[in-house]
Amino acid sequence: MAIKIENRLFQIETEHTSYQMKVDKYGVLTHLWYGAKTECSMDYLLDYPDVGFSGNIYEAENQRTYSLNTLPQEYSTSGVGDFRIPAITVTHDDGSRALDLRYSGHKISRGKYNIDGLPAVYATEEEAETLEIVMEDTATNIEVILMYGVLPKKDIITRSTVIINNGTTPITINKAHSLCLDLPEGNWQSIHFHGRHAMERQMERCELIHGIEEFSSSRGTSSHQQNPTILLCEKECTETSGFCVGAALMYSGGFQTQIEKDQLKQVRVVMGINPETFSWKLNASERFNTPEVILSCSMEGTAKLSQQFHKIIRHNVCRGKYQLSQRPILINNWEATYFDFDEKKILDIAKEASKIGIDMFVLDDGWFGKRDSDNSGLGDWYVNENKIKGGLATLISKINDLGMKFGIWFEPEMVSEDSNLYREHPEWAIKIPGRNPMRSRYQLVLDMSNPEVIEYLYNSISDILKNNNIEYVKWDMNRSISDWYSTCLPSSRQGEQPHRYILGLYELLERLITDFPHILFEGCSGGGGRFDAGMLYYSPQIWCSDNTDAHERTFIQYGTSFFYPISTVGSHVSAVPNHQTGRITSLDTRGIVAMAGSFGYELDLSTLTEEEKETMKEQVKKYRQYQLLIHNGDYYRLTNPHNSRIAAWQWNDNTNGNVLVQGVVFRAVANMVRDKIKLMGVDALAKYKLKGTGEIYSGMALMTGGILIPRTTGDDAAFELFFEKLANDEEK
Ligand code: GLA
Repeated sequence: MAIKIENRLFQIETEHTSYQMKVDKYGVLTHLWYGAKTECSMDYLLDYPDVGFSGNIYEAENQRTYSLNTLPQEYSTSGVGDFRIPAITVTHDDGSRALDLRYSGHKISRGKYNIDGLPAVYATEEEAETLEIVMEDTATNIEVILMYGVLPKKDIITRSTVIINNGTTPITINKAHSLCLDLPEGNWQSIHFHGRHAMERQMERCELIHGIEEFSSSRGTSSHQQNPTILLCEKECTETSGFCVGAALMYSGGFQTQIEKDQLKQVRVVMGINPETFSWKLNASERFNTPEVILSCSMEGTAKLSQQFHKIIRHNVCRGKYQLSQRPILINNWEATYFDFDEKKILDIAKEASKIGIDMFVLDDGWFGKRDSDNSGLGDWYVNENKIKGGLATLISKINDLGMKFGIWFEPEMVSEDSNLYREHPEWAIKIPGRNPMRSRYQLVLDMSNPEVIEYLYNSISDILKNNNIEYVKWDMNRSISDWYSTCLPSSRQGEQPHRYILGLYELLERLITDFPHILFEGCSGGGGRFDAGMLYYSPQIWCSDNTDAHERTFIQYGTSFFYPISTVGSHVSAVPNHQTGRITSLDTRGIVAMAGSFGYELDLSTLTEEEKETMKEQVKKYRQYQLLIHNGDYYRLTNPHNSRIAAWQWNDNTNGNVLVQGVVFRAVANMVRDKIKLMGVDALAKYKLKGTGEIYSGMALMTGGILIPRTTGDDAAFELFFEKLANDEEK
């Protein structure tokens, strides 16, 4: 049993971690511990200081030391004496805003709970358990159920919250976070991932300040600018040692992560839907489900934590035919042609691709409606026969005849004002009556909270998918959302639209992946602007960034790897000079960097030299050979590219112990000894043979002394080292 309850102490035990809460004599649910397995109750660590201006609950009478403001809380509320950040805030019908949640019951069940209409970690009955703790505000009969899913073998705990109005009058939920986690007083640092279009998930590690810090998105999407993941670690924590805890929100809309270091240096993290673009009217007997947070911690540094997240997302979030199987190596025509193509051009590229051994051709933006530039056509999901003469089916059969699969691009959530769809249904675009809406990339956003919009999109997309041999869909979303207003919601419910938009999106995706189970879906939002665990429930890979420059990609992929499995990272070799940065890197370097993901190409192959095409054939062969190791292996970040001359990463094959190291030396220097890198997580006592030289090293030597990386010349030079783990009798 992973969940144990004794004397109102709740203990959730995973293989290496323990999570503890306790209901105290007043019914307050205090948070005691998240960390190593201690085999004892951690309530002895609770302190009850008499801190000025920290009030006391009424029942505590004249005990000045009992304060909600100093005790660690499991799910913080506002208005009743905890002045730190609340996880939930509501407004009652009488206008008051207090919520005093006290324990009223619990339930344990086998298996993992699901959340209606929202993505959630799934698991077999044997693999997981569920704990529900029921909390109640007795003055109003508002019930809050704290849900915990436990996957003990994977060291994962999930959390989400259900809010039920058992009262007689409506309430408004202003904030309903999925996670509240109190950490004890200490030297905590935070690691978060900020960025911008074409430079997503830049890792930043910071000291906490006294006060509240926020990482959030109010853009209607999880966004390029901040990612809905957060890591808290001890100051001394490294990749391979020290304590850290991570949380990933399974949600693709606006989110908020807040961290507060309080007056006593205690830390609280809350995470969930961004209240700035959210409010929800909950009538009597209605319930509201928050999205889920995936939680994990490691006593052995951030590499282990990342591996735990990689495993849970790859095995218990991603789904479908391609979840664990080899992904097709694809060629995408976007950077090769942009909007300027016809059937002949596409076939020219496809022919070259088939000779190289590429598995699939992906036709990007521009194949539909009147779409010759980015200012028209979105919404008209039928083929543009001026460009694709003879229609899609003919083109696809020619591509299939080359031995290749075919994939296609959609941007379903958008509409161009210059489109038949907009002319017919202007009311389907999100805009506020009496105001001009913000345009972005000349486009408007469809109201995904409107069931008619979902129906239209389902029908038009499934028509194309039914009538053509399409085996891949790139699902794009190319702007941030503003001007929230829905023609199908009353004024009292307008604040619900951003969340209802995401529910509509998830419903549409669920219908399509159910009806077309053979199709590989790849998520995209101007590259990686909606790279989150929510989207990964519907698409096992996401285009990581519109930045295909191999040098900059090492930074983007470094940040992405903290939470997301390598198999989820769509990564392509593109042309030089690079279209985003103008930088020239070798084909070898572009190949090595793109291999740390789900691999493909995105350039005009018909303009390449024979020698370049030969190199690509070798890359395709190599990726096929290493793909399962890259996708299933234990991943290690060997350097931090933000403060190193080198970006290097490693996979350990957990079936045979072999090790693959790849990387890029950013700057060439004259007259220097070579750099060394230290391997991680190999077997200290085993021997490893380096491919190419045949030299043999001990695991201990590789981890402590490291290995000299091959001599490279020129900037951004790639290297690769493959070590075969020797069986005992081969070592002599
Ligand atoms: C976005 C995507 C690109 C490409 C273009 C097409 O920017 O990230 O890969 O599909 O849209 O318009």
